[in-house]
Amino acid sequence: MSSNIVVAIDGYSSCGKSTLAKALAKKLHFIYVDSGAMYRAVALYFLRNNIDMHNHDQIAEALKNIHLNFHSRDYQTHITLNDEEVSDEIRQMPVSDKVSAVAAIHEVRVEMVRQQQRMGKSKNIVMDGRDIGTVVFPHAQIKLFMTADPKIRAERRYKELLPTNPTMTLEEVFENLAHRDYADTTRKESPLTRADDAIILDNTDLTPDEQLQFALDWVEPLLV
Ligand code: DC
Repeated sequence: MSSNIVVAIDGYSSCGKSTLAKALAKKLHFIYVDSGAMYRAVALYFLRNNIDMHNHDQIAEALKNIHLNFHSRDYQTHITLNDEEVSDEIRQMPVSDKVSAVAAIHEVRVEMVRQQQRMGKSKNIVMDGRDIGTVVFPHAQIKLFMTADPKIRAERRYKELLPTNPTMTLEEVFENLAHRDYADTTRKESPLTRADDAIILDNTDLTPDEQLQFALDWVEPLLV
């Protein structure tokens, strides 16, 4: 049995998963993997190359041509798609609008899960996403399931996106989140759901420091 520690963080869009995952990884000197960035990079490739999402041959061919890599600098996500840094582009609206549909494709999930499992094989990692505690690492030592009030989530995401998207409205962000929540929880392939043994973390009224402390209280006992 491997002795590395996996912290799996799942939850709805924009409820602070990556903020917590990064802070936790930094504090514990674990590797941080943003699994959503992988689905976003695949969605970007599909958009750029007009991949027909109903054409299984095209999808299989595209997946063979997609090479993703993470470069961790100060626990920020730097992801490359075929050696091109795409970390900013994958956060823009065209990708956000498309990513749930791409993440619902069976072949895409099989390939991403395979790569994610490889990353957590022998290293201490924190990985965030939608199916990390249920599918990718069902035996993770710590599973957190994050949630927060949808209005608060939309406001947080809006503030984050505004500097690079000055014309965007709060309503658009709210709609996009509602759409993604619906798509993520109702899709056939690995829908977002809480693992039976996941700890619920509702951070509506918590500061980033408070949610970090909540998670550390669970993880630190494993390290002694
Ligand atoms: O966490 P995020 O918003 O960057 O994720 C982008 C999309 O990818 C989101 O709509 C759900 C999907 N996703 C997924 O299906 N499984 C994961 N493990 C991570 C993300």
